[in-house]
Amino acid sequence: MTETWANASGEAGAVSGEAGAGDVRMATVGGLDLHLDLSGHRVRLGLETALRDAIRIGRLGVGTRLPSSRVLAADLGLARNTVAEVYSQLVAEGWLTARTGSGTTVAERRAAADPDVNDAAHPETAAPRYDLRAGVPDLSAFPRRAWLATARRVLATAPDRLLDYPDPRGLPQLREVLAGYLARARGVVTDPGHIVICAGFAHGLAVTCRALHARGAGTLAVESYGHQAHRDIALAQGLRLRPLPVDGSGADLGEAGGADAVLLTPAHQFPLGVTLHPRRRREAARWGGVVIEDDYDGEFRYDRQPVGALQALAPDRVVYAGTASKSLAPSLRLGWLVVPPRLLDAVAAQLAAGPSALDQLTLAEGIASGGYDRQVRRARLAYRRRRDRLVAALGRQHRHVTGIAAGLHAVLELPGTGTERLVITRAAGHGLALTGLESYRADGAGPVIAGDRAGLVIGYARPPEHAYTTALARLCAVVSSPASITDGNHYQPLA
Ligand SMILES: Cc1ncc(COP(=O)(O)O)c(C=O)c1O
Repeated sequence: MTETWANASGEAGAVSGEAGAGDVRMATVGGLDLHLDLSGHRVRLGLETALRDAIRIGRLGVGTRLPSSRVLAADLGLARNTVAEVYSQLVAEGWLTARTGSGTTVAERRAAADPDVNDAAHPETAAPRYDLRAGVPDLSAFPRRAWLATARRVLATAPDRLLDYPDPRGLPQLREVLAGYLARARGVVTDPGHIVICAGFAHGLAVTCRALHARGAGTLAVESYGHQAHRDIALAQGLRLRPLPVDGSGADLGEAGGADAVLLTPAHQFPLGVTLHPRRRREAARWGGVVIEDDYDGEFRYDRQPVGALQALAPDRVVYAGTASKSLAPSLRLGWLVVPPRLLDAVAAQLAAGPSALDQLTLAEGIASGGYDRQVRRARLAYRRRRDRLVAALGRQHRHVTGIAAGLHAVLELPGTGTERLVITRAAGHGLALTGLESYRADGAGPVIAGDRAGLVIGYARPPEHAYTTALARLCAVVSSPASITDGNHYQPLA
């Protein structure tokens, strides 16, 4: 902990030798200051692990030249033999290369030596080189400097009571500014008293489902395409699911009879990308049960003004849910609910630990200062450009994405699930991660109610800017391959 804070404030070396911080020593390797934790008797193992970790996470890049064993041993106050043995071990494992005359350098093919980044050994944790899976924004665009400056100010000036257990409904300051922001940006009808801060949408959904179940609800209607994780959350709170058909006009509530509540993505259906048709919006607003409105990317509309929140049509029955996961970063776990008065106590009764009060206050200051709006505008412009590039690149191959010009993902329909799987596997072989519609389909949403849809759900926001061109080129290569795409007569684009 001490070391983390010291590093974060840029005080390199400040922890060296500090009591209670273990035996942390510093050496300069390849121009980088490396903190090496050599506590305990297993100094050799400590050095070996520290160097291996530094290579694995990229702090020591390929080709970086390491100091000679004599120099490193002197820097660290170790026996030269110890360092030489560590170098030999890492050479044997493939992390380092030793050549007479050019010294010891970080080896090229480190992935082969690292079970943690070896796709075959750990497919679930391995990071693909190019990632076009939907769900995550460009994390490299997180406004670190602004967030850090605000967080620093918040911590420096906050009274001690801010460090106490926070109000489970969320910090009043954040609820206050959110009420204004949501009214202005999304047309939500609310006041701070009806806003509840939660740890992202997933938490808000769990809390809402628990509250509904506690009040006797049994069935939640869900769009037949959506996140399995969200369906699992509802199931875990004791609700049964009823998948609703989704077509070019969004979800059809005609099939929701008997359900107590419905979960919808009205502004931008996830993952199909359509918007709920005005007639269906009106139907949803008049529908008898509770509507949970997942407004996960409502700020990101590119061709015209965003469709306002459905909540405004029925604030007494719609639970509106928003998140900072797309506009800032999912790791913050910051989200919010706007809860109808008659559900407020039931929802509040289910709240336990929410996000850190410091993060809540940092976000509140960001919204109040206009910094959050600026971040959303910057991101909107960047993602709009990316979407335009995606559309243009695919257009050159006479392929067209479906769905509205919005959000952080687009769908490229394919002739069938067989083709979908083939393209995804082929892409993986090119270091490109993709997901298909099949993985979002609700159990029991058979062809009869959902339509036999297949296609790629392309998350164009996720790669850092410098990787997007290559990610796009690889996508085009895999979808243009005649062996992977065969438009048969059974190809049916979305209505
Ligand atoms: C449809 C949908 N809803 C909500 C979210 C946000 O979830 P959370 O706020 O839990 O990160 C996402 C993010 O991937 C999403 O795709």
